[in-house]
Amino acid sequence: MDNPFYSGTVAVIGLGYIGLPTAVVLASRGVRVIGVDVNPVTVERVARGEIPFFEPDLATSLSGAVALGNLTTSMETPVADAYIIAVPTPITPNEEADMSHVFAAAAALAPQLRPGATVVLESTSPPGTTEELSRTLAAARPDLTFPNDVNDSPDIFVAHCPERVLPGRLMVEMVENNRVIGGLTPECAERAAELYRVFCRGEIQLSDATSAEMAKLAEKMPGGKLPAGMPGMGSSLPPTMPKLPPNFPGAPGFPGLSGKFPGLPGLPGLGKKK
Ligand SMILES: NC(=O)c1ccc[n+]([C@@H]2O[C@H](COP(=O)([O-])OP(=O)(O)OC[C@H]3O[C@@H](n4cnc5c(N)ncnc54)[C@H](O)[C@@H]3O)[C@@H](O)[C@H]2O)c1
Repeated sequence: MDNPFYSGTVAVIGLGYIGLPTAVVLASRGVRVIGVDVNPVTVERVARGEIPFFEPDLATSLSGAVALGNLTTSMETPVADAYIIAVPTPITPNEEADMSHVFAAAAALAPQLRPGATVVLESTSPPGTTEELSRTLAAARPDLTFPNDVNDSPDIFVAHCPERVLPGRLMVEMVENNRVIGGLTPECAERAAELYRVFCRGEIQLSDATSAEMAKLAEKMPGGKLPAGMPGMGSSLPPTMPKLPPNFPGAPGFPGLSGKFPGLPGLPGLGKKK
């Protein structure tokens, strides 16, 4: 019980297929969770302990967490010790990732940040997004330090933890799956890992943010193979995440492709209802 998040508050932004089960498993383990969504119907239903969509075992856990008072909801982003962003990142007709929901969520949470807070991006995102998220938050909060600017002990910790669950088994896989957690700095990865250790029984592998973003996209590739000579990863994560080659679209410093998936064939619409 020495995990600091047991005595803190976690805001889960986006109460969909990913965010709601995440909020529920955290709240079921005694963490105070505030679920945030822009959809008032979702916010009201979840506050009453009612599931907005069917998923095995979600209803019982949700109603229990609400009855215990560990899970409340809001349309406003609150002050919290940690934020998990689980909003949609659908593919546009131009085959770009629509990151507008992620950056809308960032705009809403920036004014609430306090020193020591951890921000985890769970939404499936193009490489470089976590760093862009940190830069966006830093621009909104010049009074705080962020890991895109300082390596040691920033005020705010920013990391990416891609979600790998399959619908129909969300409540099991959320807890049992291995996870890769990529921080903008090693300290950011460790802070985020502490949050997931509240409920994750799978192996938690620490990495950097770009590798974590790539790991998720690679898993979505047909055959689990990365383009341009990157190693295939199948459905399990390798012991160490590959570094992006400098000329890979989306790699830090590669010009002009921020916010775009590099034309991944077969990549399903992300964040769309199944
Ligand atoms: N569904 C899956 O099986 C699955 C699996 C792995 C990863 N993912 C990824 O997880 C992310 C979320 O997907 P999902 O399936 O949970 O989406 P979803 O559409 O089920 O839910 C997203 C929720 O976010 C809310 N939302 C949108 N903008 C918001 C904002 N600015 N602030 C607060 N709430 C907002 C929506 O109202 C909705 O309730 C996506 O990036 C997706 O690719 C999904």
